[in-house]
Order: sequence, then C-alpha cells, then structure tokens
Amino acid sequence: MYSEKVMEHFSNPRNVGEIENASGVGTVGNAKCGDIMRIYLDINDAGIIEDVKFKTFGCGAAVATSSMATELVKGKTIKEALNITNKAVMEALDGLPKAKIHCSLLAEEAIHAALWDYAEKNHITIEGLEKPKSDIGEEEEEENY
Ligand code: FES
Repeated sequence: MYSEKVMEHFSNPRNVGEIENASGVGTVGNAKCGDIMRIYLDINDAGIIEDVKFKTFGCGAAVATSSMATELVKGKTIKEALNITNKAVMEALDGLPKAKIHCSLLAEEAIHAALWDYAEKNHITIEGLEKPKSDIGEEEEEENY
C-alpha cells in the first residue's frame, strides 16, 4: 500500500531535528488527526534556503512527506520553495494512499508558516504567500483534490 520511496523515507527520514536561531519557524496542526508538524528554515541573505529541519508528532506518511519536502526545498529560493506543493512531494514519493493525502499537507503548510515567520521577522512581503492556517482542515484538502 505504501511505495518503496515512502517506506524508505519513513525508515530513514532526512533533516529531522531543529535549527537554533532559525530564520523562520512554522508549526501547524492537522485538524483531521490532531498531528503536529514544525519546520525550521535557515535562509541566507540571498534568499536561499540553506538548511531545513523538521519535527513532528505525526504518522508515518507525515514523516515520509516531510522528509521528502525538506529535501526538495533545501538549496532552493523562497519562490521555488513556495511552488513545492504537497502534490509535488507525493509525486516524488511515487504516491500515497488516498486516506493519507491529508498527512502530506502538514509539511507544505508548515513550510509556508515558516516562510511567513521569516517574512514577519524581516518586515518583508513574500509574493504569493498567504497567512498560514494553524489548523489544516478538510476544506483545503477538497480544494486540492
Ligand atoms: Fe495525522 Fe497522518 S494521520 S498526519
């Protein structure tokens, strides 16, 4: 039911941990299951995401999608990171069972929340970034799929 890539990222998740004095930190919860995700971003003066770490009270699918999402945003510009959707993360993992799609939203939303935090701290506006929700509900999932 899970792809090999999902199993591999679940068993050996990349970028787990935290970053001290991170440029931006984002925490979101999934209203559906109550799981929580926190993402730390280290962004340099050129606006490149130099480092990223995550911590979660989430299921295996949340761990695997966050692991892949952090790999995908590392080294990218803020704009590029914004374009990495949960759909792109799922594709990179060769798919997720339908019942687990909501889990993949945690990483995407936590990255957005961390970027929002970074923008607020630096008094800048990131084009295309909307104020993050602290709880991800069914609605957003239905909009995406
Ligand atoms: Fe909660 Fe997967 S069941 S994140």
